[in-house]
Amino acid sequence: MEMMTDADVERARRDTPGTTRVAHLNNAGAALPPKAVTDAVVAHLHREAEMGGYEAAAAAADLVDDTYTAIARLIGCDVDEIAVVENATRAWDMAFYGLAFQPGDRILTARAEYASNVIAFLQVAARTGATVEVVDDDEEGQLSVDDLRRRLDDGRGPVRLVAMTHVPTQGGLVNPAEDVGAVTREAGVPYLLDACQSAGQMPLDVDRIGCDMLSATGRKYLRGPRGTGFLYVRREFLEKVEPPFLDLHAATWTAPDRYEIRPDARRFENWETNYAAKIGLGVAVDYALAWGLESIEGRVTGLAERLRGRLADLDGVHVQDQGRQRCGIVTFTVDGVPSEEVQRRLADSGVNVSVSVADYARLDLPQRGLSDVVRASVHYYNVDDELDQMIAALPGPRPATDSRTT
Ligand SMILES: Cc1ncc(COP(=O)(O)O)c(C=O)c1O
Repeated sequence: MEMMTDADVERARRDTPGTTRVAHLNNAGAALPPKAVTDAVVAHLHREAEMGGYEAAAAAADLVDDTYTAIARLIGCDVDEIAVVENATRAWDMAFYGLAFQPGDRILTARAEYASNVIAFLQVAARTGATVEVVDDDEEGQLSVDDLRRRLDDGRGPVRLVAMTHVPTQGGLVNPAEDVGAVTREAGVPYLLDACQSAGQMPLDVDRIGCDMLSATGRKYLRGPRGTGFLYVRREFLEKVEPPFLDLHAATWTAPDRYEIRPDARRFENWETNYAAKIGLGVAVDYALAWGLESIEGRVTGLAERLRGRLADLDGVHVQDQGRQRCGIVTFTVDGVPSEEVQRRLADSGVNVSVSVADYARLDLPQRGLSDVVRASVHYYNVDDELDQMIAALPGPRPATDSRTT
């Protein structure tokens, strides 16, 4: 159910200068930020220019603290369980590369897993003798919780980690994060959730999900600045994950031959950071919280479903999204027109979309006979007129009803 009213959407668009210039359906790439975010970033850059960078950071200490408080509210954890880093990949890496693997340890993942994560699995597997297993999809195309349970119980060696992408880069699927959490908790196996594409478009609660670690980015559905991301690590788990890199922020040099790693999740950060972006991330998270993540999800899924419906009515257009639960990412192919050409044609008409290629999702797209898909990702500030604009600008097909009458 959509809970945002037309007046809310109008207000969201007024808050978002970019909506006057472009039909931005690339929110899974990087969303348009609200003006409040841009203003906060620019204000801090001015403070740095006028006072000096260190002095500006000290003067803005409360704003920086607010970023941790906002993220903790967003995902239902405490501030000392949050590290703010430069992107989702680095957040995920700090957790994954911080785990110790032995020969024969098993890493379980899903078909929709993101390329960078799988590359990291393969590197660590080659280094340590751990193995990587892909859990089957169920008939609806999401991770099969039954197959996961089977693999956890099959006695074929210790499962050291379950790592799953919540919402993939290449489709509208929402993997069953809570069901996976229930299973990993029962089995006592660490669970790392890549929430890069879900953060900001749906409610996330780490206790309800049952994950031990969660990574996310700022620029996508959260509408924050580029170059921001965060990692959550459950308090009881902090000591079990040794940061792969340490510096004088993550640890203290206590004696010439000793250091102590800090006890909180900031052990996964490093000292130098983009303060303006970090402050902007907090403003973006607060802005999302003010709308409410349930309202955002209602609006986003409603728009996405309408877009899928309109695309499905077109001859020669195939919606490619899988899964029981779907989100704001809409993927499709157009017969006889390469996805990049579709993207170019839409861009010429003022509509931003993106393309997902097999390299991003080798366990998924090729299995489905797809080399690439067009990705239109909607946010709550998008409107039906923009969907019409996109449909009208699509190359090749016309509505099936039209073609029957001509
Ligand atoms: C599922 C998923 N995980 C991780 C990432 C990487 O995020 P970042 O570019 O912030 O490192 C992406 C980026 O598209 C993604 O889609």
